[in-house]
Order: sequence, then structure tokens, then C-alpha cells
Amino acid sequence: MVAYTSLAAAAAFFFGLTAAAPPTVRSTGVVHRIFAGSTVENGGLHFEPQNVVAEIGDLIEFHFLPKNHTMVQSSFDKPCEPLAGGAGIFAGFNFATKEGEAPNVFQFTVKDTQPFWYYCSQTAGNHCQSGMSGVINQNFNSDKTLAKYKEMAKNTVTKQPSADPLASQGGWIVPNKPFAFLAFLKWEAVVGWWGGGDGWNSGDYVGIEWSDRRRACDFGRNNLV
Ligand SMILES: *[C@@H]1O[C@H](CO)[C@@H](O)[C@H](O)[C@H]1NC(C)=O
Repeated sequence: MVAYTSLAAAAAFFFGLTAAAPPTVRSTGVVHRIFAGSTVENGGLHFEPQNVVAEIGDLIEFHFLPKNHTMVQSSFDKPCEPLAGGAGIFAGFNFATKEGEAPNVFQFTVKDTQPFWYYCSQTAGNHCQSGMSGVINQNFNSDKTLAKYKEMAKNTVTKQPSADPLASQGGWIVPNKPFAFLAFLKWEAVVGWWGGGDGWNSGDYVGIEWSDRRRACDFGRNNLV
């Protein structure tokens, strides 16, 4: 009896644990890059592409172009407001840049196929009211369209998801790989030039380029799975 009871207790404990564990999402290895900001569209207040279709397990990766943009998850019904309940995804204001792409990107995994509405909560210049919003997995059979979201957004007041503008949640801030790769190449070129005894020649350059490409590929692969 003692054995049975402890077995049952162990089983209850085990199933209790499994029930409490968050559902694991298997990575598909697919990455969707969305650029916050633009050099051409809507005076820069734009996500590109602003309408993305993604599958469960895909990775969404936000790259940030000049100005001080962010990404906040919202609902369709309340544009420019964070998703109710406090569990929405927020990139934080961690990506201000004056030119080029910010050195870091923001990533999160798609966990379901529900429409994911989002906006930029920068109030200097009223980015959300000016149309800086987007959607992942819009329901194309519904009249809840991005055009409508933007229309409704015009008459709202932007709300922030957190008192701390830097407090991102629901994803990861990681180095922008192409950026890190280029910075590394530049660094190695300088070191190679000044530090190398035999100076600079095209052979060195090809060698460096090759090894770094390989490293960059491995880095990318390791980070996708
Ligand atoms: C970016 O904007 C946020 C929110 O307005 C602000 O708190 C932060 O200081 C800004 N960062 C920079 C570098 O301007």
C-alpha cells in the first residue's frame, strides 16, 4: 500500500508538472524580418512588411531603422494600446538609431495563429496615430483589416505597456547578425592591416572573407534551431 500510495503521489506530481509546463513550440527555422521604420514609406513611420503570414514555430525578427521606434502588441479593437492583461509582447525602446540599422534586433516565436496586432508607441511624432502599425496572421475572411486598424488609430491616445521604457518582454534582444558580421570584418581588416607582418594583399582578404563567411553561417544555423 505504501508503495502504491507513493506511486500515485509521484504520478500526481508528474502530471501536475506536465500540466503546469508551458506548451513547447517546435522551431520551424523560418525567420520573418520586419523593419521598423522606412527610408521611403509614410515619412519613415512604417513597418515593412506590415502584413505577415507566419506559422507556429516561425521566428519574427524586428530590425530597427532610424528614429526611436519600438513594437508593442495590441488588440484590434484598441489600437495604440497594449494588449489587456499585461502579457503582451513589447520590444522596449532599445533600438534608437540615427542611421542604418540598430545594432540589436528583437525576436519572438509565433506560438499560435491568432491575429497579432502591433504598433509603435513612440509619442514624439505620434507614430501610431500616423499609421505605424502592423499585423501578423490577419484573418483575411474578417473585416478586421490593417487599414481599419490604422483608421481607428487616428483618434486614439498612445499608451505605453510599461512604466520603464526599456523593459521589453515576451521575446529576446539579440545582436543584429549582418551588422555584427560587418563590424567584425571591418575590425579584422584593421587588425590584419596594422598587426600583420606581411601587410595587406588580396590573398589575405579572400582568406578572411572565406573564414568569416563560414563562421557567420555556423552562427546563423546555431541560432535558428
Ligand atoms: C526613445 O523614446 C523613449 C520613449 O519616448 C524614451 O524614453 C527614450 O529615452 C528614447 N531614447 C532615445 C535614445 O532617445
